[in-house]
Amino acid sequence: MRIMVINGPNLNLLGEREPAVYGGETLQSLNMQLSEKAAGMGYDLEFFQSNSEGEIIDRLHEARLDCSGVILNAGAYTHYSYALRDAISAVRIPVVEVHISNVDSREDFRRNSVIAPVCLGSISGFGKYSYALALIALDYYFGEKK
Ligand code: DQA
Repeated sequence: MRIMVINGPNLNLLGEREPAVYGGETLQSLNMQLSEKAAGMGYDLEFFQSNSEGEIIDRLHEARLDCSGVILNAGAYTHYSYALRDAISAVRIPVVEVHISNVDSREDFRRNSVIAPVCLGSISGFGKYSYALALIALDYYFGEKK
C-alpha cells in the first residue's frame, strides 16, 4: 500500500527554521526515518514538499489515483486555505492532518484549522513523531476497513 506524505510551505527549512519550535532535524532526515518505519509496517511512502498552494492541491489530486491515504502537514495553509480544504474533500481518500508543534498552545490564528473538518483526524504537538503517529492512525484505519 502506498501513502503520500505532503509537507507544505516553509517545511523545507526544517532544521534551520525556529529549531526551538520545530526541532533540529531536516525534512530529509525525518522522511528517511518515516520511510523506514513505514517499510516495517508494509507501506511504501511517497514524499512531496512544496511552498505553493496549487502544487500541493495538484499532488493531492494525483494521490487519489495511486495512494491509499495521505499524511499532510499543510503548514500555514492549514489555517486559511479553503482551496486545500475543498481538494481534501474532493479526493475521497483518508487524509491525516499533522503538525510538528502543538498548534493549540501557540498564537490564536493557529488554533483554527480550516482543513480539520474534512480530514480523517488531526495530530499535533509530538514533534517529528506526529508523522509516525499519523502513519499508525492510517494503519488502524485500513485495518478496520479490511
Ligand atoms: C506547522 C504549524 C503551522 O501553524 C505553521 O504555519 C507551520 C508548521 C507545524 O508543523 O507545527 O508551518 O504546521
